[in-house]
Formats: sequence, structure tokens, C-alpha cells
Amino acid sequence: MPQPLFEVEGLRIAVVDPRRLARDELGPVTDDGEQLASGWVEILSGVSYAVHEGEVLGIVGESGSGKSLMLMGAFGLLSSGAQVIGGITRYRDHAYQPSRSWSGKDDERYRMEGEKRRVADVSAARRADDAWRKLIGVDVGFLFQDPVAAWTPDVGIGEQSGEALAEHTDLTTEQIEERVLDALGEVNLSKSRRLFGAFRHELSRGMAQRAMLAAALTKAPHLLIADEPLTGLDPLVAGGVMELILDLRARRGMAMLFVTHDLAAVARVADRVAVVYGGEIVEQAPVDDIYHRPKHPYTAGLLGSIPGVTPGRLRPIEGEAPLLVDVDRDRCVFASRCEHATEICRSEAPGLSVAGSAEVRCHHATELDLPGING
Ligand SMILES: Nc1ncnc2c1ncn2[C@@H]1O[C@H](COP(=O)(O)OP(=O)(O)OP(=O)(O)O)[C@@H](O)[C@H]1O
Ligand code: SF4
Ligand SMILES: [Mg+2]
Repeated sequence: MPQPLFEVEGLRIAVVDPRRLARDELGPVTDDGEQLASGWVEILSGVSYAVHEGEVLGIVGESGSGKSLMLMGAFGLLSSGAQVIGGITRYRDHAYQPSRSWSGKDDERYRMEGEKRRVADVSAARRADDAWRKLIGVDVGFLFQDPVAAWTPDVGIGEQSGEALAEHTDLTTEQIEERVLDALGEVNLSKSRRLFGAFRHELSRGMAQRAMLAAALTKAPHLLIADEPLTGLDPLVAGGVMELILDLRARRGMAMLFVTHDLAAVARVADRVAVVYGGEIVEQAPVDDIYHRPKHPYTAGLLGSIPGVTPGRLRPIEGEAPLLVDVDRDRCVFASRCEHATEICRSEAPGLSVAGSAEVRCHHATELDLPGING
């Protein structure tokens, strides 16, 4: 197997849970390997995944399961209140430690304001290393969950689309403009100066997502990060954006991390699928195996509970997914909802094991015969 294009190893993330704050003041999360400060809870405890050149890894899971954290944490792009505390990200032969972007200078940003505890925006402090930023700036494209909010309000979308190239390459302003206009055309938007100078409030949601895709293409990326790119779009527009993504993937051969809660969408785009539950990747396998031969009870449950995926009667999973801050990581994260749970499931966290073509976190993965979409 060749080296992955992009790899995340052992990603650990902590978030602020105000209910666990012992004192009035929130301190900074402590360094990697040390005990967390009061108020901080570890919710991702060593997540690893990889994507190879030209491959699409679909990341699926319910809302709140930790999908965006897994992606954004790997790039040091978390919003305030969440912090990477361990793990390493590799892109080709470059390595980056997202936890290192935390610095003591940020401590003062965590403070009391009047009666309210406040976690100030520390995103500015989370700057990646310069070399890493340059690499990611020109080689990786991003599609975010909220395409309108992702644009800065007072800068034209054309100028923003060319920012990374202006900062990190020797291309002239004219060359960059030309690339931006070409990319706008490639996503079926107008190649006009009018659109180049438009602000985000002038765009519909669908246009904002297409423009985001154009901004990514301006850089000719080898990797596209798509975090729920169809969320909030009406079905017709979402279908158009999806077709565009599939078409671009076929023509440009980009690798992609495609995050979604929509199993039907992931079936169309992904080569491999990582299924997320409770802040863990509980199963990872080629797309066909995920759908037809699931090895983790949660994957089987997900397939059985989503209309349009399973023919016949739905088999919803009993109970509710816990908040990540409440997940007990000393046992299987799915134990409270799993119909196959036994004593060991409630007393020991399952390690990663191989079952067929899948990597699974389940004590009983090799013994269970779970229904797929035909089962
Ligand atoms: N900045 C933050 N501060 C505190 N808690 C956070 C923060 N970001 C995420 N969380 C917690 O982590 C959980 C998982 O967040 P994440 O955004 O990764 O979910 P998701 O799987 O992407 O969900 P969705 O499908 O709704 O986008 C959230 O429900 C929240 O409880
Ligand atoms: S480890 Fe046990 S509880 Fe967890 S998914 Fe497997 S069978 Fe179910
Ligand atoms: Mg998300």
C-alpha cells in the first residue's frame, strides 16, 4: 500500500463543559499527556484515519457525533471552546501537530466577564506553522457546513478566493483573477467581474457553496475537505452541487474527505467509509462492505434506520446518542444502545480489530452476523 496522501494519527480533542468547572474561572487546557484542567473534558481520544491519492473517504455519523471536530481539529481549525491536546497530522511528507498551535499567550483570553464565564475567540492564536499553512493554503480546498458564514462579509468573494495564491505563490494579480474566473465558470457560475466583486450577502446559499467550491478549485487542490457541503440547500440545489462534486472528482482526480449524515450521498461519492459514533470511528471499510456486510452493530443500525437506504421496514436504533461530554470511554461507547451488548462491552473499551475488510471497534465483530441493506 502506498503512503497515504493525508493522515491523522491519534487525534485527541478536549472541549469546555461549564458544568464541570470547579472554580469561577476557566483555565487553559493543560498540555498533552497531563491531566486536564477543571472544566475541560476529553471527547475525542485518539482518532486515526487516512486518505490516499485520488481516494474519497466518506465520514458518516449522526449530528453531534464528532465528525467536524475530527476534520477541523486535524488542521488546527477548531472554534473557541475546543482544543486539540494530542495527535499528529501528515500531508505527504510534512507533519503538523495541531496541539502545538496552542500557546500560553492564550491564557488571558479565558476569563470572567461580569457574571458570565466567557471563552473568548482564540482562533487567531491557533495558527499553523508557516510551512504547513503554505502547503495547506495551496494544496487543500475546503467546503464548509455553512457556506455563507465561511465567507468574510466585507471582502469580495473573488478576492477571497485568490487570497491563498496571493500569499503563497508568485502568481500575478492578473493570473490569480483569471484562475478565479475560470473556476467560477467551472462550477457553472458566471465568469463575470460582477460576481468576482460580489459580497457574501449577495449570494444565495447554493451560490455561496458553489463559489466556495470555485475558491477551492482556484488552487488546483489534491485534497478537498467537504464538511456536509449539501446541508441547508434545497433538494434541487443540493443535487446540482452533488453532481458538480462527482464531476470534478472524476475530471480532476482529487482525493476527498466527505463528511455527511446522509448515507445515500456517501454511497455515491465514497470509496471507503468511516462510521462515527460517540467521538470514535467505530468501523471503517470499503463502501460496498459497509452497505452489504456491516461489522459493527451501530453501522447495521444506521443502515436499518434511514429511509431510502433500506428496502422494506425500518429498524430504528433504540435510545438516543449521548452528548460527547457524557460518553463513558471505559466501555464500548455504543453499549447502552446495542442489542448485542454483553458484560465485557460494559466493562472494557474495545480496541481496533480487523473483521473481513473492515477495521472495527467491537468486542464481538467477528461473531455477529449483521444485516446489510439487503438483509
Ligand atoms: N467549540 C466547542 N465547544 C464545546 N463543545 C463543542 C465544540 N465543538 C463541538 N463541541 C461538542 O462536540 C460535539 C460534536 O461536534 P461536531 O461539530 O464535531 O459534530 P458533528 O458530528 O459534526 O455534527 P453535525 O452533523 O451536526 O455537524 C457537539 O455536539 C458539541 O457537544
Ligand atoms: S462492543 Fe458490544 S456493545 Fe459495543 S458494539 Fe460491539 S457488541 Fe455492541
Ligand atoms: Mg459537523
